[in-house]
Amino acid sequence: MNKKKVISDYPKDFFNEKKVFIRVDFNVPINNDLNNIREDYRIRRSIPTIDFLINAGAKVILGSHLGRPKGIVNEDLSLKIVSERLSELMERPVIFCNDFKDKGWTNKFDKLTKGSVVLLENLRFFKEETDNDSEFSKLLASFADIYVNDAFGTSHRAHASTFGMAVNFKSKLAGFLVDKELKFISKMLEKVEKPFVVIIGGSKIKDKISAMSKLLDKADKIIIAGGAAYTFIKANGGKIGNSIFESEMVDWAGKVYAKYSNKIILPIDHLVSESIEKTNSCLIVDDDIPDGYQAFDIGPKTIDLFNSIIKGPGCIFWNGPMGVFEVEKYSSGTIHVARAVALATWRGATSVVGGGETIAALRKAEVLESEISHMSTGGGALLEYIGGSKLPGIEILD
Ligand code: 3PG
Repeated sequence: MNKKKVISDYPKDFFNEKKVFIRVDFNVPINNDLNNIREDYRIRRSIPTIDFLINAGAKVILGSHLGRPKGIVNEDLSLKIVSERLSELMERPVIFCNDFKDKGWTNKFDKLTKGSVVLLENLRFFKEETDNDSEFSKLLASFADIYVNDAFGTSHRAHASTFGMAVNFKSKLAGFLVDKELKFISKMLEKVEKPFVVIIGGSKIKDKISAMSKLLDKADKIIIAGGAAYTFIKANGGKIGNSIFESEMVDWAGKVYAKYSNKIILPIDHLVSESIEKTNSCLIVDDDIPDGYQAFDIGPKTIDLFNSIIKGPGCIFWNGPMGVFEVEKYSSGTIHVARAVALATWRGATSVVGGGETIAALRKAEVLESEISHMSTGGGALLEYIGGSKLPGIEILD
């Protein structure tokens, strides 16, 4: 169970007139061509915490990252669009602050009136954020009196805003989103119902290795699909054509497969094309992907195979799409998996689905939040937590 102090453990007076820094995770999928946010679940999930603090008379300063700009300002990754969506959702003004390193801001924050909401520009525009730089941490800490972490999805990172700045506060509390995530997942982990099926998709496995290594022992079956699968298929000597894979992970994947071949389930057929745009040149192929072709989705036999495993009851954990589901032609595998998880939940399974893209996939499949036991805002963080790791952004809280 979550034993961390939550904002509601304090009387509202505690926050009255106080400046509260909330680390939120507004790392949401954005379609820059259309200038819109594809999925705003993480934004909406942070609103109960912001509302509570505003109603308690606080002045709220929000900090988040968006994407991985690696210390370089990139307008495509500006949080401005997010401040506009937040303002729309909350029906109140949100002050967007893109120059918070300018000394004047600390004073301006002092002059905020009760109920003000400020969103800082993407913290990762500064390398000091991911470096957990102590001066940068102190600067962020100087903006507020109380620290709140409501960014479950980023709690596995020991960055300035998730970890470094928190040590400068007397009060470091969990927001409602973090509290809800920890309570649900800890309860599920107390007694993981069998069979425990883990579904890992998405394009990369590098980020997920440590969690996957731990989950391989705990899970009964691990379905690996999406781009992550091709590193495994290549390691097993399969022909993957031009499909994406991570060359530096091939050895690791080979060793892991050799040890856990009874648990790991890989795609057995693929929807391939010459390029992502050439949706008219698609083929379904079994084992060998021809040269010049790249896999963009799982094939129908794989869908049947996965459906036979994602049945329920038991426990199902899903992170990462099966293919490039944003493109209609390549969305079938992901949509089938989303619906299989919902059906398994109806049959009694406990299902946890997490990660920005995976939530977007559920929406595309028209699966309702009520059809999944827990829709988590965390992707990598959730994987780490389920795998049994301690999350620095949570550990640091009171
Ligand atoms: C996520 O989307 O999983 C979180 O926002 C963390 O992002 P990161 O993997 O870039 O640190």
